[in-house]
Amino acid sequence: MDMTVMDIIEKRKSVRTYETTPIGEKVHAAIMDYLRQEENLRGPFGGTAGVEWVWAKGGGEDSKAIKLGAYGVIQNPQAYLVGVVTNDRKALLEFGYIFHKLILYATGLGLGTCWIGGTFNRRSFTRELAPKPGEIIPCITPLGYPREKQRLLDATMRYVVKADQKKPWRDLYYDASFEHLLAPGDAGSLAAALEMVRLGPSASNKQPWRAVLSADRQEIHFYLQHTPNYSGNKLGFEMQRIDIGIAACNFELACKELGIPGVWTMRDPQLGVIDQHTEYMLSYKLS
Ligand SMILES: Cc1cc2nc3c(=O)[nH]c(=O)nc-3n(C[C@H](O)[C@H](O)[C@H](O)COP(=O)(O)O)c2cc1C
Repeated sequence: MDMTVMDIIEKRKSVRTYETTPIGEKVHAAIMDYLRQEENLRGPFGGTAGVEWVWAKGGGEDSKAIKLGAYGVIQNPQAYLVGVVTNDRKALLEFGYIFHKLILYATGLGLGTCWIGGTFNRRSFTRELAPKPGEIIPCITPLGYPREKQRLLDATMRYVVKADQKKPWRDLYYDASFEHLLAPGDAGSLAAALEMVRLGPSASNKQPWRAVLSADRQEIHFYLQHTPNYSGNKLGFEMQRIDIGIAACNFELACKELGIPGVWTMRDPQLGVIDQHTEYMLSYKLS
């Protein structure tokens, strides 16, 4: 990759309209190589997920090619990456981290992607991938080269979910406790990493992540502010836990690039919560 990870995080956006150009063999091989390396499929707490490459019908020679039926939202996908994971709280968080790292890798290779958890025909993939009992296919992403000129539907979709509106710092970040807001200028070297979390994708662009920087500046605690009655949680798994894994991925990759080493922990600092919908998730402890 020529770009820095932070450039990639800033550049990535959901692509729903692709060129008909097939994915180059080198790019395909690079992703298959990435998937073969076990450490790439490990989450912040050592959990794993399965990911399969599936050619879209007409998009390649692979016999596995299937018709996805993404309800017309996605145009000209050339292939898909399909995730499989155990349906539990921690595994969904780890899945968000693992799959987002892969999405950033694909973005760095010049591919367009779009996290899709709701608007796809789950059954067609289930038939193909045969998840084991207790496993689900939480999300997929189409792959292909982004078409510069967006379809009207693409633009409408972005408008409906307000994709270009990312919440400001004051809605997301707190200083020492939930009583004080964290200004970028008070976050020191972590400001850029928190900015990368802010720019990340989330289901229906709800941006449910909240974070508190500890008073001693040594830890950052991440929370999930569940969206009440969120439709995405009605598919048999809690979609918004994936969003927290995505936040953890963007945060950790930025920290690594900025030379801020740390480790993930899951120990509730008992700082209280914003409201009854807020749940402690994980912390990054500087080392
Ligand atoms: C877990 C998850 C599930 C998503 N599911 C869908 C989906 O079913 N259909 C869709 O068109 N976009 C889906 N998205 C994409 C979001 O709408 C998109 O990330 C958000 O609007 C922000 O836009 P951006 O990715 O361009 O920054 C999903 C995103 C995430 C993280």
